[in-house]
Amino acid sequence: MAIFLALETSCDETAAAVFDDDLQIRANIVASQTDLHARFGGVVPEVAARAHLQRLLPVIDEALKQAKVSLQDIDCLAVMNTPGLVGSLLMGVSAAKILAVALELPLVAVNHIEAHIYACRIAAGRDVFPAVGLVVSGGHTVLFHCRNAIEFDLLGATLDDAAGEAFDKAASMLNLGFPGGPKIEKEAAQGNPHAFRFPRAFLHEPRLDFSFSGLKTALLYTIRQLGYTPGADIPQPLRSDLAASFQKAIVDVLVTKCAQALEQTQLTRLCVGGGVAANKTLRAALQTMCDQRGAELFVPPMSLCTDNAAMAAMAVELYRLGHFAPLDLDAIPTYRPKRVVATTK
Ligand code: KG4
Ligand code: ZN
Repeated sequence: MAIFLALETSCDETAAAVFDDDLQIRANIVASQTDLHARFGGVVPEVAARAHLQRLLPVIDEALKQAKVSLQDIDCLAVMNTPGLVGSLLMGVSAAKILAVALELPLVAVNHIEAHIYACRIAAGRDVFPAVGLVVSGGHTVLFHCRNAIEFDLLGATLDDAAGEAFDKAASMLNLGFPGGPKIEKEAAQGNPHAFRFPRAFLHEPRLDFSFSGLKTALLYTIRQLGYTPGADIPQPLRSDLAASFQKAIVDVLVTKCAQALEQTQLTRLCVGGGVAANKTLRAALQTMCDQRGAELFVPPMSLCTDNAAMAAMAVELYRLGHFAPLDLDAIPTYRPKRVVATTK
């Protein structure tokens, strides 16, 4: 049995995981930097990179300890080298390369976005492909046709803001704090989702792209029209109604595009990953849509939705195929996959 040590430092979570080639996750340690970035209202790249440097070794130690293994028991290093903040990515990539050289072990590079989808395979404990894959995170909103565990074709993506980014900006306008997604979700629970009608880009068009910047601007103008200053306190129940209506607009768009992707590809499985997939309203709406279509929905538990290193268990598939990374592996900040027009399975 091969044992893997995986590292993740693409944004503001320093993470290490230990898993085996049977996809058993033996440790999944995440040190969040939320506290460091909260006062800036967003992730500060230089602060994030420095914090990774300080936290990486303790996080690796903790993962090995929890998995009850030592570095000598590891058979392969895995690291997510793209996409992300280049300074942050470099921390994990450098550490993985150093360990691979020192321990004379193979190195496997995993794509962070694709790994978010692969988290569904890990959580399900069985094959979930082929499937439509939706990644909704702070930096990405992407729809894939996942042909198998490692071949993902891009069906559509956001043209501007990611869904999580929109949640974060809305939370800042409503003075709810950072990160915005969980704050908006909490606030929305007490609000009326029909109180305001916000725009839903491309909703009735067959294209599988997203755009959330108009929605963000609509919230800004609505707050101003109501006589309040964006970022300042807004009285209740107005604030909850704004949060609920904003969340509903994002959920409607994500659910509709997933339904269209299932229709266009004729696939019957939907895998959803990324931080925004932690949103319970989104999960419930996706479940209803899938039930209506007779499709199967796979959403990982919270610990595998937000950034973590266990989702790098996609490395197991690459390891089996002998897809190893060279020791001059680069950190690649942008993600530009091949775009395809939806085709049936
Ligand atoms: O995947 P992730 O942990 O990091 C990135 O790769 O970006 O996603 C973080 C994003 C943030 O924008 C955060 O606001 C959002 O996920 N998020 C949520 C929820 N929990 C986290 N958005 C909506 N509802 C939530 N419950
Ligand atoms: Zn992520």
